[in-house]
Amino acid sequence: MRVFFANLKSHMTPQEGKQWLDSFVLLKLPENKQVIVCPPFTLLTIFKDSGLSLCAQNISPYPQGSYTGEISAGMLKDLAGFVLIGHSERKKYFKETTEDISNKLIQAQNNNLIPLLCISGETEIDSYLNLAREFEKIFILYEPTFAIGTGNPDTPQNASSICEKIKSKLPSCYFLYGGSVSKDNIRQFSEKNCIDGVIVGKNSLDPEHFFEIVKNG
Ligand code: PGA
Repeated sequence: MRVFFANLKSHMTPQEGKQWLDSFVLLKLPENKQVIVCPPFTLLTIFKDSGLSLCAQNISPYPQGSYTGEISAGMLKDLAGFVLIGHSERKKYFKETTEDISNKLIQAQNNNLIPLLCISGETEIDSYLNLAREFEKIFILYEPTFAIGTGNPDTPQNASSICEKIKSKLPSCYFLYGGSVSKDNIRQFSEKNCIDGVIVGKNSLDPEHFFEIVKNG
């Protein structure tokens, strides 16, 4: 497995973010693994100076302009190379719709951000893959709702069979699994050849736990 995203969600003050970073950069990452951190917007500039690859956790469905409180893709393109689109927490708490997700994908594309398009369940596969077809490079992130933050991951077998289904429909995409990934279960996911990487939420808040996941994955 090559790609490891750390989704720090809405957790850290600038000071806590600096502490995370100071601890993480001391750990010797294996050279054949790619680590990408998804910090909150407020930490992007701090993390940028570290040289780590960065992913925004969300973008506005609108372009730059008079949309108070929104962070547009154009504002982000010099800070992050990737963006999460349609995370299930956005759907659950902020009622994000397929139309919002489609508009966010357009904004990402117009600003050269590589999307991680999140699929929360099997029923979303077909409609979401239709949105993804336009992209030269896209990550499809399968994160079943029951697995997020619960300590109850999907089985690697099921994640892998969903990966195969998705890649049979969109062979050019990269596939990520997310939902309660830990240092104790990462090997089982990394044994599945179809899965290109993982995204880690809760267990990335401790830099050493995240490092163990990267090392063992
Ligand atoms: P989790 O979150 O690892 O805490 O389950 C993953 C995510 O939501 O990206």
